[in-house]
Amino acid sequence: MDGIQVRPIAGSMGAEISGIDLSQPLGNEASARIHDAFLENQVLVFHDQTLSVEQNKAFAESFGPLVPYPFVKGLPEHPEVFEIRKEPDEQMNFGGAWHTDMSFDERPPVATMLYAQETPSRGGDTLIANLYRAYETLSPKMQTFADGLTGVYSGDLKGRRGGRKALMSATRFETANVDAAPAMESEHPLVRTHPETGRKALYVSGSHLYRIKELSDPEGAALLSFLKEHASTPDFTCRVGYRPGTLVVWDNRCTQHRALNDYHGERRVMHRLTIGGGDRPS
Ligand code: SIN
Repeated sequence: MDGIQVRPIAGSMGAEISGIDLSQPLGNEASARIHDAFLENQVLVFHDQTLSVEQNKAFAESFGPLVPYPFVKGLPEHPEVFEIRKEPDEQMNFGGAWHTDMSFDERPPVATMLYAQETPSRGGDTLIANLYRAYETLSPKMQTFADGLTGVYSGDLKGRRGGRKALMSATRFETANVDAAPAMESEHPLVRTHPETGRKALYVSGSHLYRIKELSDPEGAALLSFLKEHASTPDFTCRVGYRPGTLVVWDNRCTQHRALNDYHGERRVMHRLTIGGGDRPS
């Protein structure tokens, strides 16, 4: 039809899309095909793309309006695009713990796009977990219990490495807004319904979700410990490997992810674009 091919990359989520050049404007038919594949597979991977920053932004905008990431300054001419860079002499990586992007916002972003600029000779993959499967595989009793709960999500990474400010100051990123992180907090239903597919997802964001509003602290901690473990079950994941020119986009409304840190001594550089316009989780 339009030459686009969709090939699943794992049993529970993710697909590689081939037969499309993202530097060219997408027609309506191709756009609709990609959007359908995105909703069906939650994660789309496109290899061997050659895109200027403007072309990358134009493709990202086909998913929604771009929003800046609050804690890192963007590229000088393109504040909505920031560079995730780890140098050969650095140990810590960005995004190395499970999370779903900016779940501490009142309206968390629809999607995140990474475009690989420079990749290590091996390693540096992203693991992504399917939060529909996390919900669907709970027992009916636990589903009913979770359905009635409210999660509290913090931008300050409660309890992890001294909070956002300490974490960011351990990197070489040009940071922004870190003092505002403790005030960045939202309550969302622990089980959210995807506004486009109507499917329920367990809205676990490993490093942001720190409390269950309706439970005492010890009760909430015990439940969160189980749910966080459950939501990263290997059977629910796919793994995206990169080479320069690989572009990935994932749906933040039904996934969480973590960047693997297994390439010390080598450089990895990605452009990250965050796609806003999301609903208020319900
Ligand atoms: C992120 O969490 O946004 C970064 C993921 C990655 O670099 O693989």
